[in-house]
Amino acid sequence: MKRFSGKHVVVTGAARGIGFEIASQFAQEGALVSIIDINENSLSEAKNSLSKAERSIYTYAVDLTHRNLVEKTINTIESIAPIDILINNAGIAKETSFLEIEEKEWKNILDVNLTGFFHISQFVCRKMALRKNGVVVNMASKNGFDGEAGYSHYNASKGGIIMLTKTMAIELAQFNIRVNAVCPGYIQTPMSMEIDSPEFTKKFIDRYIPLNRAGNVREIASVFLFLASNESSFMTGQSIVADGGQLAGQKMM
Ligand code: NAI
Repeated sequence: MKRFSGKHVVVTGAARGIGFEIASQFAQEGALVSIIDINENSLSEAKNSLSKAERSIYTYAVDLTHRNLVEKTINTIESIAPIDILINNAGIAKETSFLEIEEKEWKNILDVNLTGFFHISQFVCRKMALRKNGVVVNMASKNGFDGEAGYSHYNASKGGIIMLTKTMAIELAQFNIRVNAVCPGYIQTPMSMEIDSPEFTKKFIDRYIPLNRAGNVREIASVFLFLASNESSFMTGQSIVADGGQLAGQKMM
């Protein structure tokens, strides 16, 4: 019997990057996996690659900021099988200095990274509460704990996720729903490679990361699976940092 046999897991933003690896690890561990992502092309590539390995995968092309569409999608997903685990991973980032951010950009980052989590979590947790069973794991970031210049909207959204995680945890414990978050540091994904040049990445690692390298998607996905499994059954409201030591303090120069 595999660790997640018989479990139905929903992973958002799983068409690529960390989300894809999370979906893939759940599928390898026996779960039925439903993926939600806004990017139809990446979504069908993800489905092909996971289905080749004969995994049970359903995909839904949905923008998580559209509340009505999210509600409909959750009803459809639940009609296939009750959702046991929700992984809120979808997110966007953009580097703009605080003085230059336009309202549209501010709203877009907060809508996807924070309000999007609220919409889907509310619909899924209402169903989990009726069953008195469920687990939610949210994607936050090391940037939810300390700031990084150029990312005030992103940092605010991730700090918001850490507090949302705590509050959901204390309200939903009575329904036997656990809620935790993962806070990665610098991970090499399509998102981070689109934002940062290889030269910047090297300098950043030399300056800030004690383990002297970027993290990879497998090292983050495994933390999500731990928090979704019974191995973490007495944990709720926690935000777990996986950042190569960056938040621990300044490294040797
Ligand atoms: P990515 O860009 O490779 O993947 C993000 C996925 O979310 C994409 O497939 C995208 O289509 C989807 N998405 C974006 N907006 C959406 C929307 N409105 N509705 C539905 N899906 C949407 O990014 P990556 O690096 O894998 O990031 C995943 C999560 O991890 C994000 O929440 C990010 O903030 C977080 N994170 C990433 C770190 C990194 O260094 N890469 C570090 C800390 C946190």
